[in-house]
Amino acid sequence: MSADASSSPLAAPRFDPLAMALHWLLAALIVGSFGVGLYMTGLPFSPQRLKIYSWHKWAGVTILALSALRLLWRLGHRPPALPPGMSALQLASYRISHTLMYLLFFAVPLSGWAYSSAMGMPVAWFGVLPLPDFVPVDHAFAEAVLQPLHRNCAFVLAGAALLHVAAVLKHHWIDRDDLLQRMWPGPRKESDQ
Ligand code: HEM
Repeated sequence: MSADASSSPLAAPRFDPLAMALHWLLAALIVGSFGVGLYMTGLPFSPQRLKIYSWHKWAGVTILALSALRLLWRLGHRPPALPPGMSALQLASYRISHTLMYLLFFAVPLSGWAYSSAMGMPVAWFGVLPLPDFVPVDHAFAEAVLQPLHRNCAFVLAGAALLHVAAVLKHHWIDRDDLLQRMWPGPRKESDQ
């Protein structure tokens, strides 16, 4: 792949439009689902609370499906070259944090889905596609294991995402390299044209 064919041969290579679209859509959905997840658990029981829970679950299952698509993209494409001059430590943290985030893109929604199943509340995606329950109903297990698992995985994902953003901003403002350009859909920097 993967460099944008429309850019000049001298421009820093960047991800293709599908990879960019998945990246920014998933980022928005994950931030939104995290915020809604925190908000909804504090609400009093009401039809409104049930509706918000359903939207949280539907968004989460959408994240799961889009993450599978993104993983398939990633397995079939080589990402564009990283900026030159990154140290061995930077490269190692890049690889470790990205692997951790990919694991959590699956662990967070799957643990939420498992929690719903174990609580005896099956998920129907947007009310139209019933999803199978892959764990049996067991309220004690759901509350002792799956609920804290979902919550803790969501917090680790939030922490990893914050570190990811901090690293990108450091590359952009301190190292002043082209890392952010690889995933930025807007026009290229003047120096790249
Ligand atoms: C990446 C996707 C997701 C993120 C970032 C996320 C995040 C969160 C967060 C932060 C909470 C609040 C945890 C707490 O304070 O106890 C939560 C709760 C919850 N999530 Fe998710 N979630 C995701 C996907 C899902 C999915 C796919 C389902 C089910 C199909 C789900 C079901 C639930 C349920 C039922 C709760 C409420 C737990 C309770 O009542 O204590 N989540 N989620």
